Amino acid sequence: MDQAQQLRNIIKNQGVPQRPLARIITVTSGKGGVGKSNVAINLAVQFRKMGKRVIILDADFGLANIEIMFGTIPKHNLSDLIYQGKNIKDIITWGPEGVGFISGGSGISGMYNLGRDYLVYIIVNLAELDAIADIIIIDTGAGVSNAVMEFLVASGEIILVTTPEPTSITDSYSLLKALNQSPRFSRDFTKVKVVSNRVSSDEEGQQLFNKLNAVVARYLKLPLTYMGAIPQDQMLARSVMQQSPVSLQYPNAKSVKAFERIAGELVSPGEATEIKQRGMAAFFSHIITGRKLSNAQVPAPGGPANVPNTTN
Ligand SMILES: Nc1ncnc2c1ncn2[C@@H]1O[C@H](COP(=O)(O)OP(=O)(O)OP(=O)(O)O)[C@@H](O)[C@H]1O
Ligand SMILES: [Mg+2]
Repeated sequence: MDQAQQLRNIIKNQGVPQRPLARIITVTSGKGGVGKSNVAINLAVQFRKMGKRVIILDADFGLANIEIMFGTIPKHNLSDLIYQGKNIKDIITWGPEGVGFISGGSGISGMYNLGRDYLVYIIVNLAELDAIADIIIIDTGAGVSNAVMEFLVASGEIILVTTPEPTSITDSYSLLKALNQSPRFSRDFTKVKVVSNRVSSDEEGQQLFNKLNAVVARYLKLPLTYMGAIPQDQMLARSVMQQSPVSLQYPNAKSVKAFERIAGELVSPGEATEIKQRGMAAFFSHIITGRKLSNAQVPAPGGPANVPNTTN
């Protein structure tokens, strides 16, 4: 039995209940600093206003974008769940408007050295998120790295943030090219949606999308969906300095209207139903099984798995 099959069996047999699965939306970009974290956090606030339960996972490991923007310091992070036996509920910090967030900490880079018991513990815990949240938004780092690619190929839905800067467009293309070349990418499973940020008009946003879409359609033959534009907005920049999402700090700002529209579009019946959801347990299993596995990770056959000691 291969590792992927073993993890599927774990999900089936180790007390991961069958329940509605959370929708997982991964926010990414080719170039850094284009507005990913602002998109993640403001869509989260907008989804909350629509009555959805939302958790943001800050997967920009080591850089802690979301907590700075929320002005809240989390006590624990994902690494504490993985390595310190913390419970999933311990590592969620509840921010303004009841948006939950999980800090990635130093990340999951050492995860492939973990034994079966640890993996079971992590997966059973992450599966709890499906009961806690309707939507999980994952904020990634920028660019083409293995860590980002792993999250993208495991996601049913990617929001690619781009801006009118020429480098942002070419870096968006490079990211999509790398994604398309990944052996683990499935265009049937993963839908790519584009948001144009920092535009001077809706027309500029649409043109930006058209430009990217034309080269992507021609050379990658990858379908993209346009989700709309967010204007250049000094209130947004100001809210970042004030460590509060613009949607809460300046609810009438022009960028907030755009976040409202995009969030509304994302939960509209057409967009929401075409998404294939696999939930958090399967999401992480996909990431783990994609890693090069060492012998140490191949679990011994038989016997129910024990969870690591949670008292340390
Ligand atoms: N629509 C906008 N209007 C004005 N300023 C913006 C807008 N979007 C982003 N910015 C500015 O860009 C900065 C970077 O945004 P943000 O941190 O969301 O980008 P990021 O893509 O997450 O960056 P990183 O790659 O470093 O994680 C913000 O602090 C803000 O000053
Ligand atoms: Mg960021």
